[in-house]
Amino acid sequence: SSQTGSPAVATGPDATAARERVALPRRFLMCRPEHFAVTYAINPWMDPVAGADRDLALAQWEALRAAYLSLGHRVELIEPIEGLPDMVFAANGALVVGGRVYGARFHHPERRAEGPAYAEWFRRNGFTEILEPAHVNEGEGDFLTLEEVILAGTGFRTEIAAHQEAQEHLGRPVVTLRLVDPRFYHLDTALFPLGGHNVAYYPGAFSPGSRAVLERLFPDAVLADEADAAVLGLNAVCDGRHVVINAEAAGLIGALRRRGYEPVPVDLSELRKAGGGPKCCTLEIRM
Ligand code: ARG
Repeated sequence: SSQTGSPAVATGPDATAARERVALPRRFLMCRPEHFAVTYAINPWMDPVAGADRDLALAQWEALRAAYLSLGHRVELIEPIEGLPDMVFAANGALVVGGRVYGARFHHPERRAEGPAYAEWFRRNGFTEILEPAHVNEGEGDFLTLEEVILAGTGFRTEIAAHQEAQEHLGRPVVTLRLVDPRFYHLDTALFPLGGHNVAYYPGAFSPGSRAVLERLFPDAVLADEADAAVLGLNAVCDGRHVVINAEAAGLIGALRRRGYEPVPVDLSELRKAGGGPKCCTLEIRM
């Protein structure tokens, strides 16, 4: 695939790193928002009275999918199910590392049927190491995979017992992080991996102890401010070089560019009415 756009311009200590940012092709699972709606409120972003425009959400989602394809990524689709308006948020459907699938078990009854539906997709597509979890967890909404560790959120949805269950099933160290701001109810609304060894995050979303953990693990992290977080700018997807990110996150987009990443802005404003952004729509399949 041809990588479009001019090379990022960086000067100073980040210039060398910038030249080395390498995109690796990814395999994603997505769910077309055919039945998308805001009919209940399970996070502070959702207003069932205001609702949402499904056709606009569909168009924005198609543009996201097109962006992935143009970057050379592979996108597979799961059939949307009527009556599950949040099923578009594929990230919540599972966590897949090394071809092993840790299934989701949703906190809210409104979404509970999505867990088995995603597990079934993996079964049908040849995955055999699938764990139906005993503990509440919302897949990649609360589990973000780096090279050495998996970062795991708790506080609103995913239980700490699920962090341990995932560690045991996947054989990767899982680091618990505590979320404290209800607007950032999933880890993937407050933090995203920048390749395998670094992250971007909004410190205000985390407890003091978890903030200290992040500072220790990622001294070179890209820090986002509240304005970036409030447009779900941290709900982004990085392939090592490109960062698919909500266009409104202007400050963060600038910071990423200065660090040698290539932002790919998208408009998912209609899906944000359900509390989701680009990452929420994207489940990564890691073999
Ligand atoms: N309305 C959905 C919920 O509250 C949004 C999920 C967004 N997904 C995510 N990975 N953060 O569960």
